[in-house]
Amino acid sequence: MAFITVDQEKCNQDGICVAECPGRIIQMDPEDEYPRATSDFGDFCLRCGHCVAVCPTGAMRLDWFGPEECKQIKQELGVTPEQAEQLLCGRRSIRAFKEKSVPRTVLEKLLEVACSAPSAKNQQPWHWIVVEDPAEVRRLASMVVDSIRRAIKKAPEEAEAMGLPRVVASWDEGYDRICRGAPHIIVAHADKNWPFSTEDCTLALSLLDLYATSIGLGACWAGYFYKAVNAYPPLFEALGLPSDHLAFGAMMLGYPKFSYQRIPPRNPIRVNWIG
Ligand SMILES: Cc1cc2nc3c(=O)[nH]c(=O)nc-3n(C[C@H](O)[C@H](O)[C@H](O)COP(=O)(O)O)c2cc1C
Repeated sequence: MAFITVDQEKCNQDGICVAECPGRIIQMDPEDEYPRATSDFGDFCLRCGHCVAVCPTGAMRLDWFGPEECKQIKQELGVTPEQAEQLLCGRRSIRAFKEKSVPRTVLEKLLEVACSAPSAKNQQPWHWIVVEDPAEVRRLASMVVDSIRRAIKKAPEEAEAMGLPRVVASWDEGYDRICRGAPHIIVAHADKNWPFSTEDCTLALSLLDLYATSIGLGACWAGYFYKAVNAYPPLFEALGLPSDHLAFGAMMLGYPKFSYQRIPPRNPIRVNWIG
């Protein structure tokens, strides 16, 4: 396998691909001064595609994709700092949803954006479960409540300290604190033995949350939900997770009932400046 092919007609020998390669496995060939793969390329390539993505002339091709398979970055679409700040700081956890389902095409787009998150060693370990039917969300939420009732029985003091009896009381009164009446739940799960599954899934869900906000949807982390998936076998089975996986996060998703007018202040920044 050649791993990389350089179109010498297009390559301007600027060495950007060499400088950008995270594995340092592209070098300038001392003979012809064009980039080439090192002998250990196959062992150390992260398959991140940076060499193809960064090349200003589109000269670089990996064996598995080239510039034509990449989406072009439209420079004119860059967001202003003000727009970025408003999106990032104005995003809220949404807990009141319209009774309206999100179309499958939009859900697919959300997952596509989520999957562009960074991940350790570019492993992209996330797998997804999307609960599309609101009635199924409700049924699964009731299973979470079952798991909480079990936890209260098992360790009442701990459960009290975590406020679990209130969650159950709300459910019994007809208010769902688990999924907040969201029409959909999206679960990210991954190999329980991959040491970065938590970070990778969290980052992907965070992008999903932000993109959802940008297209007029609302999301909220469903902490009780995904913790219960891992702690309560009937729920784990109901979602059909593979036995070597764990849920590393879940989001409620739907159309927000209300729109926010203000950004609440956060705690003061705690920072030590060194140097
Ligand atoms: C890991 C995690 C789990 C959470 N679980 C829940 C949850 O189960 N239910 C809920 O209503 N909100 C949940 N939240 C949302 C937080 O309460 C919310 O982020 C926080 O109050 C700040 O509000 P904001 O996101 O609107 O800024 C969770 C957030 C995180 C990061």
